[in-house]
Order: sequence, then C-alpha cells, then structure tokens
Amino acid sequence: MKRVLVLHGPNLNLLGWREPEVYGHTTLDEINQRLRALADQRGATLRIVQSNHEGALIDAIHDAREWADGVLINPGAYTHTSIALRDALSAIAKPCVEVHLSNVYRREPFRHHSFITPVALGIVAGFGWRSYMLGLTALLDALAEQG
Ligand code: DQA
Repeated sequence: MKRVLVLHGPNLNLLGWREPEVYGHTTLDEINQRLRALADQRGATLRIVQSNHEGALIDAIHDAREWADGVLINPGAYTHTSIALRDALSAIAKPCVEVHLSNVYRREPFRHHSFITPVALGIVAGFGWRSYMLGLTALLDALAEQG
C-alpha cells in the first residue's frame, strides 16, 4: 500500500471563500474528502497537512522521510518564494508532484516562477480542485511503476 503526504500551503484553509473566481467554490475539506476517496479506490493511504507556516510544512516533509512513498504538494505562495521548502523536498528525495488550482502561468508574472518545480516529478495547474486528483493519479501511477 503506497503512502502519500498531501501538503497544502498558506491560505488554502480559506478555499471556498477565498477569491472563488480564481480558486473555485470547493472547500479544502471537500478536496480532502475527494482525495481520500480516490486514494481508497487506488489502495493508497494519505496523511494530509495544511499549514500557513513555512517551518511547519518543512517539519511535515522531514517527518515524511520516515513513512511516506511520495508527496503531493500545493505550496501556495511559497511556490514562488521558498528555497527552504524546495531544499526540504530535495533532501528527502521522494517523488513529489506539485499542484495548483489556478493556471499560474496565466496570472501575474511573479507567479510564473516556481522554486519547487525543479525538484518535482511534474506539475498540474489550472484545473481547480481537479488538479489535486490529476496530481494524485500521476503520483500513484509513478509510484506503481517504480514498484
Ligand atoms: C496557488 C497559486 C499561488 O500562486 C497562490 O499563491 C496560491 C494558490 C494555486 O493553487 O493556484 O496560494 O498555489
């Protein structure tokens, strides 16, 4: 059974309420329920963490070194700022998929650069809550291939 850490970065606790024209009306709880249902179908288990604090996200990544097979992450705004988050993902060397609800490349130029993408297997952006489902599917497929 594959074990995946799902990490949601800052402000994602406000989903459903926050800028719905950009991020949609689906709440974080609803996304998590859908992720858990998909994981069940695929015979995988998830540990899900949301934090508004960079250090707490880094601690969760360090912890995953002990138990996780892979990481699904929406780093929120830390995508564009955090070398520390990228270094943590690089340090644990587990397959990682980066997801974004919005298509960051259609938005402000400061969102066009990600510190995370170079240490990720791949990135899914622009499909709203479905970005998470697509990302988890891709990660579980990659883990299955790896054996
Ligand atoms: C986001 C995109 C980021 O630029 C932004 O700071 C977020 C959410 C997304 O899911 O579209 O907080 O990661």
